[in-house]
Amino acid sequence: MGADELVLKRLSAQQLDALIDAQNEIFADYIIPIRLSRESFAEFMRSVGGKLENVTVALSGDEIVGYVNPVVDGTEAWIGGLGVVPRMRNQGIGAKLMEAAETYAEEEGADEVLLEVIEGNLAAKKLYEKLGYVQRVAYLSAECNAARFAGFGQPPRRSALEDIAPLHQRSYAGTCWQRRKGFALEESARTCEIYKNDDGFVLLRRIAGTGFIPFLGVDPESRRRGVGTCLAKFAVNRLWELGTFKIAIYNIDDNDANRRMLDLFDFAVTLKQIEMRKKL
Ligand SMILES: CC(C)(COP(=O)(O)OP(=O)(O)OC[C@H]1O[C@@H](n2cnc3c(N)ncnc32)[C@H](O)[C@@H]1OP(=O)(O)O)[C@@H](O)C(=O)NCCC(=O)NCCS
Repeated sequence: MGADELVLKRLSAQQLDALIDAQNEIFADYIIPIRLSRESFAEFMRSVGGKLENVTVALSGDEIVGYVNPVVDGTEAWIGGLGVVPRMRNQGIGAKLMEAAETYAEEEGADEVLLEVIEGNLAAKKLYEKLGYVQRVAYLSAECNAARFAGFGQPPRRSALEDIAPLHQRSYAGTCWQRRKGFALEESARTCEIYKNDDGFVLLRRIAGTGFIPFLGVDPESRRRGVGTCLAKFAVNRLWELGTFKIAIYNIDDNDANRRMLDLFDFAVTLKQIEMRKKL
């Protein structure tokens, strides 16, 4: 069956397992191969404020051969996942799914669509450019070894989500969608240790031997005073105490200040993502 006989439909609740199977087939040959469990898929959906009923699937007969996950928040929309199974690529299905996502976003009141694409993902980048998406900024992911640090000043206090929410809003304004939205912070807060001082906050989490720092924010008024470095030293040291040997961070803006911070901790950049957007 070719792309001509294809039907696009909203996902039904009974198709969740089939969607996860399709997702795992699609991303098995990805730049970073991704295999999601039911639980980690649900975690991802919550972190982007996504809803299963808004996922559109491309069906060939009964089989899911592609999907797109559009998320709308006010006048902004975001593509929280797009993919076509390998044997059905290059037949225009990706473009059809993106067009369906844009129509949905527009109907829901969005006037702009954002997405992120790994720099080396040429097929996806070409598709987005053809549809009118324009590159805006780049985000970096990086890894370093956990290390013992002392001398990070007054340790930040263990805090709760409500104590850091306003600080998060101020310090992440204008950054990556996956980080600046309240629901992204809420999802991380469920599983992370949260720390705060007067001018900044940091979230950290251990999974087996790997530490994660999903958020580290400093109030824009208090920048360039070493607050971020103190929080980073504290977080790296805390993850060392928790028994991790490797630390990963994701989606930080690719700018000079962040690059200097990465150098300071011997972080090696593992991935560069490009944010693209389109006015509807
Ligand atoms: C990106 C993806 C969804 C595209 O789906 P698709 O159904 O093949 O998309 P289309 O057929 O509508 O368009 C694909 C375009 O990419 C181009 N393309 C394919 N492989 C390419 C490559 N290696 N380099 C450059 N362009 C490439 C095709 O030529 C086509 O452009 P054209 O119509 O101008 O010829 C699909 O490749 C995929 O699922 N990839 C893995 C998951 C992924 O990367 N998702 C996006 C994450 S941001």
